[in-house]
Amino acid sequence: MSQCQIFSSAEITSLRKNGKILRGCLQEVSSRVKPGITTKELDRIAETYIRDHGGKPGFLGYNGYEATLCTSVNDEIVHGIPGAYVLQEGDIVSLDCGVILDGLNTDACVTVGVGQIDPGTQKFLDDVSKTLEDVLKLLVKEGMQTGSISAFIELSLRREGYSPVRGLTGHGLGKELHQFPDIPNVGQAHTGPSLPLHTLIAIEPIASLGSDSFLQDDDGWTLRTADGSLACHFEHTVLIEQDHCEIIA
Ligand code: MF3
Ligand code: CO
Repeated sequence: MSQCQIFSSAEITSLRKNGKILRGCLQEVSSRVKPGITTKELDRIAETYIRDHGGKPGFLGYNGYEATLCTSVNDEIVHGIPGAYVLQEGDIVSLDCGVILDGLNTDACVTVGVGQIDPGTQKFLDDVSKTLEDVLKLLVKEGMQTGSISAFIELSLRREGYSPVRGLTGHGLGKELHQFPDIPNVGQAHTGPSLPLHTLIAIEPIASLGSDSFLQDDDGWTLRTADGSLACHFEHTVLIEQDHCEIIA
């Protein structure tokens, strides 16, 4: 599909309910991140939360993926599979999750520290999170070209000395988890498709402290930085409005 999906007001009502479940889920899981907990335990907490609130885990079964969360630790960038790993004081972990309600997808991610983390690492998380908040506030609205969003994210990350990870992009979503258009984290202003009213997109700056390239683990999913440097990922699902965007999740 090379057209943006547009949502009716009934669908928008459903997306708001969906997003509330996803936001609540990520809040609950974040609050349970402590040294000593396994990523698998976090996954169980997420799945239980989503089902208890009437949603379906959006990633479970997607291209054969077998969990509710992606939990990517330290140099893992995205798509880390929850498992036996015990989180350690000073780690960072991204908690990426999706919810399906009434056949529609949302997708969101936060990266959090485990216990006390290094102040430079905390600044890295704060800066990348702020890049996401800023681009949503300043640029994401009806008529904006995707390249302008990409260019803003790229410049904002590079200004602080971070590397946008090549090849990992934001995306449209709705009926599918990933659909038209792609929203890269690097690009040129005034290029790419324009966003129509009431379409839904996931914006997701993904940055590393070093290399901008990744390697894939033998599990077929986990992507980690080529040089072992730390990476983080923040993502919101937003609805395009006339002169702003609404954060759905
Ligand atoms: N948020 C992830 C992304 O946009 C979704 C991962 S789906 C999974 O790539 F199946 F890999 F978990
Ligand atoms: Co996404």
